[in-house]
Amino acid sequence: MKLTINGTEYDIAEEPPRPLLWVLRDELGLTGTKFGCGAGFCGACTVHIDGEAVRSCTVPIGTVAGEIRTIEGLATTTADGMIELHPVQQAFLKDQVPQCSWCMSGQMMTAAAFLAKNPTPNEAEIVEAMGENYCRCGCYFRIKGAVAKAAEQLAVREGTAV
Ligand code: FES
Ligand code: FES
Repeated sequence: MKLTINGTEYDIAEEPPRPLLWVLRDELGLTGTKFGCGAGFCGACTVHIDGEAVRSCTVPIGTVAGEIRTIEGLATTTADGMIELHPVQQAFLKDQVPQCSWCMSGQMMTAAAFLAKNPTPNEAEIVEAMGENYCRCGCYFRIKGAVAKAAEQLAVREGTAV
């Protein structure tokens, strides 16, 4: 099957049946996406399929329909070839959010998908949107703050800041 991942097309074997996460990590070397629980609970393995945040440990490879984006593809390249981090990445970096960092690509992918749908969230909406992504290091306060900052930066970038 053909899969587009971070803008590149790959030829992926449908057999044997295995989760998308294993294909990303073991076959394509996209190890920014992490394995946590392997059962859809923790959010460490979150990637986007057509912009929706999904838990790649529970997505059978044969069922994937749509373009995949992983943390390796969240930043963009500007016209002059510079890497521009996504506002979520910039905010997490600026606030030094991670501790061990194991959960962080999942946190950022969840946040990026959320802000794409709700660019002006209030605190309760951020807490709810991020509430199913677990952080063993307990960085929840900084995660919440960084998502709010990313929303502000996105508003400036889109020219919708009030
Ligand atoms: S590893 Fe996929 S949700 Fe935990
Ligand atoms: S930073 Fe360690 S699990 Fe979240």
